[in-house]
Amino acid sequence: MRTDYSGLIDKKYLGQTVTVKGWVHRRRDHGGVIFIDLRDREGLVQVVFDPDVPAAFATADACRGEYVVSITGLVRERPAGTANANLISGEIEILGKEIEILNAAATPPFQIDDENLSENVRLLNRVIDLRRPQMQKNLRLRYRVAMGVRQYLDKQGFIDIETPMLTRSTPEGARDYLVPSRVHPGEFFALPQSPQLFKQLLMVAGFDRYYQITKCFRDEDLRADRQPEFTQIDLETSFLNEDEIMDITEGMAREIFRDVMGVELGDFPRMAYADAMFYYGSDKPDLRVSLKFTELTDLMKTEEFKVFRAAADLPNGRVVALRVPGGASLSRKEIDEYTQFVGIYGAKGLAYIKVNDKSKISNDESSGLQSPIVKFLSVAALTEIIARTGAEDGDIIFFGADKAKVVNEAIGALRIKIGHEKGEAGGYFVKEWRPLWVVDFPMFEYDEEADRWTACHHPFTSPKPGHEDLMETDPGACLARAYDMVLNGWEIGGGSVRIHRADVQEKVFAALKISPEEQQNKFGFLLDNLKFGAPPHGGLAFGLDRLVTLMCGAESIRDVIAFPKTQRAQCLLTHAPNAVDEKQLRELNLRLRQKAETAAQ
Ligand code: AMO
Ligand code: AMP
Repeated sequence: MRTDYSGLIDKKYLGQTVTVKGWVHRRRDHGGVIFIDLRDREGLVQVVFDPDVPAAFATADACRGEYVVSITGLVRERPAGTANANLISGEIEILGKEIEILNAAATPPFQIDDENLSENVRLLNRVIDLRRPQMQKNLRLRYRVAMGVRQYLDKQGFIDIETPMLTRSTPEGARDYLVPSRVHPGEFFALPQSPQLFKQLLMVAGFDRYYQITKCFRDEDLRADRQPEFTQIDLETSFLNEDEIMDITEGMAREIFRDVMGVELGDFPRMAYADAMFYYGSDKPDLRVSLKFTELTDLMKTEEFKVFRAAADLPNGRVVALRVPGGASLSRKEIDEYTQFVGIYGAKGLAYIKVNDKSKISNDESSGLQSPIVKFLSVAALTEIIARTGAEDGDIIFFGADKAKVVNEAIGALRIKIGHEKGEAGGYFVKEWRPLWVVDFPMFEYDEEADRWTACHHPFTSPKPGHEDLMETDPGACLARAYDMVLNGWEIGGGSVRIHRADVQEKVFAALKISPEEQQNKFGFLLDNLKFGAPPHGGLAFGLDRLVTLMCGAESIRDVIAFPKTQRAQCLLTHAPNAVDEKQLRELNLRLRQKAETAAQ
């Protein structure tokens, strides 16, 4: 019987006989003595085998990396000078008396403590990868967060209710994962993009406070912070307004950071969406970086410089400056790299002005401003740029001029990149937790490709009181009762107060050009039930994977998911998705297009 976890044995155990079980992390032969570092869930302990116990010595000698063993021995102090301060068990070692090999192991594809593995190798060998202490730590932290959530929401009167995985398309706006029905040939279930409609129906059904920690499925382009299946902490409440919902969920974030990380989160400032875009070019600003945009669109409408003037004159154009303190020391090479970087976001260039001596502003050679563009700008404009940005000697000012979308994305990304790379030294980055609420989102955004308005959050989000008529007259100006929780530049949660009245819902559908037939076909089950006394209701969903990624300091959400998919939406471990055999397809009444086409030839 195991008496203890290896990683927890410390000086309190001196003189005791213990039995530990786990994996051979390392085996070393030190001229006549064999050392085994034994690893289990809690960490490592050093075991020493002397030749004067010949049977144990021989077995220890036969052990190799990742063998599974059971060891019994005496806890003793390590010899002077050999303590390891990094381990709980660092001051002691076990003198091995008995050892049994419970299972041999093939040579693993990599060393468990190898820090330089490619993600592909790790995902192909995920089981071995999960043995790495960092992964063990991440998944345990994830568990503690989930437990904290349950405890907090339970205290607040929320109850966990499951909702179906085999369901209909939901309105989150990504592509669906479909599941063919065998019983109903030609018909499909959709895996839920979120429990949105079901949780609203639970409010109509009178449950008042619902939550669930549940999987959501979205077939969309993947990034470091997106997975095709991910986990939401989803909740919904009745009779509460947005302030009350934000208070409850902010309280949850605070409690989890306190309990799991020992961190007291500071203020959650509330920032209007319009301000977030104006100052940061993003609806999820990373407030650890204090750099802000300076608006120049108005100023450039009267300048001759074509690059800026043309952008300023576009109906949806924008010209901004980004002042970087101390940036005049950036090299040509660094500026070229930044120029390439903004190119990824569609920027056609990256104009800049180095402020060497602002007392000598002019647009000729004698200028105290060093830049390829000063000669194109009037002295009045240059003076105004220096004044608006507050630039000092030694700073650099970058410029973005294009459609607002391109400027916001390009200069927004540049702001983060420079902030992270240079901000700590330059005094414009703080290494702290910087949460905020982004509020006053627009109801609709214009989809240029489709040439129509689409819902910014989802079509069940309520407009702000007084904005109902704008849906018809000026959809772009209509604001929603929606809110996102943002932390260090990541959207970790989002929600809204919903529409609970049929007349308002009809106006939203009209603005979105969703016909009555389509409404009934897609959302009939919700609309019909809203008629039977729907209470005012609203809620929010956190992205659990994202929250935990931030708390772990991981680079990607794949590092906090036991068995994630790659960027190409595959599981390298199980090789899913995979082809299925003809029989399965026939049962489902499916024929693959490619095959049919091949057969036709
Ligand atoms: P939303 O679509 O904003 O809202 O999703 C809520 C939160 O889920 C996380 N998230 C993701 N995480 C990982 N991979 C993804 N592909 C992914 N997509 C979203 C984000 C996001 O903030 N039903 C509404 C919520 C509501 O209105 O109550 C919804 O799903 O952290
Ligand atoms: P050009 O006239 O194209 O040589 O550009 C002059 C300067 O403006 C160069 O430094 C370019 O990098 C920069 N530039 C060009 N287009 C843009 C743009 N859309 N936004 C910001 N800077 C630009």
